[in-house]
Amino acid sequence: MIALQRLCRPLSASCQRQLLSATLRNPTITTQSQTSIRLFSSTPHIAMAQEYKLKGITSLNLQPGEKHEVEVEGLDAKVLLLNAAGKTQAVGPRCTHYGAPLVKGVLGHNGKLTCPWHGACFNTTTGDIENAPALDALPVFKATERDGAVYITGDAETIKAGHRKPKFKCKVKAAGAPVSDKVVVVGGGSGALGTVEGLRELGFSGPVTMITNEGYLPIDRPKLSKTLMTDLNKLQWRDAEWFKSGDVDIVQDEVTGVDFGGKTVKTKSGQQYPYSRLVLATGGTPKLLPLQGFQVLGNVFTLRNVRDAENISKAIGEKGKKIVIIGSSFIGMELAGCTADGNDVTIIGMEKTPLERVLGEKVGALVRKNIESKGVKFYMSASVEKAEPSTADPSKVGSVHLKDGTKLDADLVILGVGVSPATEYLKENSVVRLEDDGSLKVDENFAVVGLKDVYAIGDIASYPYRGPGGDGKYVRIEHYNVAQNAGRTVAHHIVHPNLQSEFFTPVFWSALGAQLRYCGNSYHGWDDVILQGEPDQGKWVAYYTKGETVVAMASMGKDPVMAQCAQMMQLNKMPSKSQLKDGLDVLSLGPPQ
Ligand SMILES: Cc1cc2nc3c(=O)[nH]c(=O)nc-3n(C[C@H](O)[C@H](O)[C@H](O)COP(=O)(O)OP(=O)(O)OC[C@H]3O[C@@H](n4cnc5c(N)ncnc54)[C@H](O)[C@@H]3O)c2cc1C
Ligand code: FES
Repeated sequence: MIALQRLCRPLSASCQRQLLSATLRNPTITTQSQTSIRLFSSTPHIAMAQEYKLKGITSLNLQPGEKHEVEVEGLDAKVLLLNAAGKTQAVGPRCTHYGAPLVKGVLGHNGKLTCPWHGACFNTTTGDIENAPALDALPVFKATERDGAVYITGDAETIKAGHRKPKFKCKVKAAGAPVSDKVVVVGGGSGALGTVEGLRELGFSGPVTMITNEGYLPIDRPKLSKTLMTDLNKLQWRDAEWFKSGDVDIVQDEVTGVDFGGKTVKTKSGQQYPYSRLVLATGGTPKLLPLQGFQVLGNVFTLRNVRDAENISKAIGEKGKKIVIIGSSFIGMELAGCTADGNDVTIIGMEKTPLERVLGEKVGALVRKNIESKGVKFYMSASVEKAEPSTADPSKVGSVHLKDGTKLDADLVILGVGVSPATEYLKENSVVRLEDDGSLKVDENFAVVGLKDVYAIGDIASYPYRGPGGDGKYVRIEHYNVAQNAGRTVAHHIVHPNLQSEFFTPVFWSALGAQLRYCGNSYHGWDDVILQGEPDQGKWVAYYTKGETVVAMASMGKDPVMAQCAQMMQLNKMPSKSQLKDGLDVLSLGPPQ
């Protein structure tokens, strides 16, 4: 490709076409650490490429980590001109997840660009996805300097679109395909989607079957608790045509058991699906309260899927309802925030402050203030005793009683008291041993320990954590990105079994009056928290430390600090607790290298 670029200056139309299609077709092997290689090839794209001048840019001489969002003359479009691991070129300017301006993201010396909002990571040399939650890639445009001006080469449509679909198209040799190539994925959520997209992006051409009992295609689950959205057209990431184009067979059924010896999955409808590789991605089942009233009364809800969101929305109806939310963790707090307008919302929590276990008392208090400002009431350090029926309709809940005698009237109750790994279909299986919490123990490639050709990802997986402070201890992390990145790791391991998989920093986000960003993990605890910024103005960063090691961080109003930390944690370059206590601003360290 470099040779082509040298040959093609100035570009003839045919040479431009050749160059663009060669660039986009060439599978690129990117070395992202000394020990790992991840390979995502790009979508073939044939279009009329031509040169467009970039407004106000005179030189290609950009420093590592430097990036500029610039207008493209003659088109109502912008691109992001950047130094992609030593070479200046342009990419689409917006994150393909929710459209964050990537100029505000963090570009490492290695050419990885992390989105400031939810941690999606792009390889700016190829534009390919490195990390969830984005699914579409970025288009890449060659940049040329001539006579004190800079030009990019591309077709108008792609420059304007600013994103491109990854390689997914596939035609499986159906009948003739040997079963030794067949991947069965159980589940239709974040982990399953990451696996399937990863497999086809990496060129896997065997049969792929996704078995899900959710009743629709993979959705943007985090939106459920932030907006109670129920429109599948807006929630589903990909449509049926997309999966068809990649020859992915989607089966709506419930898996009831696995014959690991015979390599077959059994479903509720009596079907059997043979596999050569099995990926279990069945997520979590919301916990219920084993207390009087909660399991028998109507209008007591949990939230995991679109049907749950529909039921909650229906019970709220035209608003003016008394809503009692039990549990002051992320889902409870988000639901309180999104239902507060026009309703009377109360949160009951066992801890002193909401989210205390994850974020600590100080930060929990900051978040509580945000949600209180929406009119939500809190009963903290509280224990629930029972739910009583409504006098108007005894089949439905009417009140929640606390152990201290407090009675809270309720038209509906939402439980946000945690989830258990959804592995019921394995409980009676004598071949597999579930952990005490019902999860499956896996290795770094998410292969289930003790089983052959079986992987487990997402909310059901306990995996050895190699991030800061991890030391390989097992963690089970319920994050959207973790599930999807684990799915991509599995795809990588299936296609490249001899290459070591790459560590990804766990990233989480939440809507808590303002956007909370979080990365790292404190599954095994932290012993101190360093708070920087202006908490009273909603702009702060909290570093969770164990000894001198920063194991996790959270922020509000301080982008792109989370993206910077996510990259530094991946490179094992986070500063120490003492440095942060002395006031070090991680952004002052410049692009991670
Ligand atoms: C309301 C809500 C909001 C959230 N918000 C955020 C957020 O803002 N940020 C964040 O990082 N994380 C968030 N999470 C957590 C995140 O969504 C999960 O960690 C993630 O979805 C886990 O992915 P998964 O693939 O393991 O499971 P899931 O995405 O839950 O997918 C599991 C799939 O398996 C299917 N399934 C289960 N059992 C069977 C069976 N026996 N047979 C067939 N199919 C089966 C399910 O129907 C489902 O399709 C949120 C979760 C919820 C519920
Ligand atoms: S907008 Fe970029 S990761 Fe969400």
